[in-house]
Amino acid sequence: MPVRALWYDRAGLHLIDQRRLPVSKITRTYRRVEDVAESIRTMVVRGAPSIGVAAAYGMAIASSQKGWTPDRAAKLLGATRPTANDLFVGIEAVRSAWASGEDPLEAADRYRQQIVSECQAIGFAGAPLFAKRSNVLTHCNAGALATVEWGTALAPLRVAHDRGVDLFVWVDETRPLLQGSRLTAWELTQERIPHAVIVDNAAGYFMRKGDVDAVIVGADRIARNGDVANKVGTYEKAVVAHENGIPFYVAAPFSTFDPKMPTGAGIPVEERGEEEVRSMGSRRLTPSRSGVRNPAFDVTPAKYVSGFVTPLGVIPPSRVRSIRRPSRSPG
Ligand code: MRU
Repeated sequence: MPVRALWYDRAGLHLIDQRRLPVSKITRTYRRVEDVAESIRTMVVRGAPSIGVAAAYGMAIASSQKGWTPDRAAKLLGATRPTANDLFVGIEAVRSAWASGEDPLEAADRYRQQIVSECQAIGFAGAPLFAKRSNVLTHCNAGALATVEWGTALAPLRVAHDRGVDLFVWVDETRPLLQGSRLTAWELTQERIPHAVIVDNAAGYFMRKGDVDAVIVGADRIARNGDVANKVGTYEKAVVAHENGIPFYVAAPFSTFDPKMPTGAGIPVEERGEEEVRSMGSRRLTPSRSGVRNPAFDVTPAKYVSGFVTPLGVIPPSRVRSIRRPSRSPG
């Protein structure tokens, strides 16, 4: 795997600083749970499965710091970002182990390994969707950076590409933080998968022209009825794909499915700071007196999803409510 978003060793938790890509590849090392929480909040690490794994290691780090209890550390890490279900699954995997006297670091390692093998299984389950020459559109970054290794949306594309399928990927730039143009394009470049970055507003143009055969995205939280929270702009892509008869797939590990959430209406949508919209680097983009809103996610109704690519295969939205997280990882 050419990209690994994070790893842990005796020196601490190492994270690729995703804010700096593609200009520089810098790794930062964290040894305090407070700093791990800050790295998630400020998006040094991002993407639902990756923040779940980072938080799992944050819990393990807290267990060897003075003054921390499982519940206190879980509360701190759980307050960083509200939308991704994976964050809470990763925290709970270590909180329960720590609270019952098991080794928290072993629990965090196990959780990381489970996420990696689920994402690998997603790659093999989803690759047959792209068995022949395809032009595929994706939004945000659901690659290895977002999932530790492999990716969710990008995993089937990686496997299909390795099998020699002639793939071309349309990469939405993904305003305002540009996870598509900075991160997805970087990952595809590492693996020499042909692609083009487009502004978010161009996706409909290419879909209507017949230049897109399928759309595949990741997810931050999937409700029991199959509604999907993912990076803001996903909903529009799903509606335009539906209008043009293009299949729209959502790829996710079990940790993204929230059995306690009946529909997408209840999913908490993070609203981030104004400055992400007001400026880019040192360049101001809006008059300072204009109001700004910055929802980081939106919710796509289940009716627009052609299939969920899970570690156990591709399933329709009607089967999401029966998904159970296995106690052992597949693959
Ligand atoms: O705000 P981000 O960059 O953490 O948002 C990430 C996304 O929306 C991804 O599409 C999602 O987490 C799926 S990652 C496999």
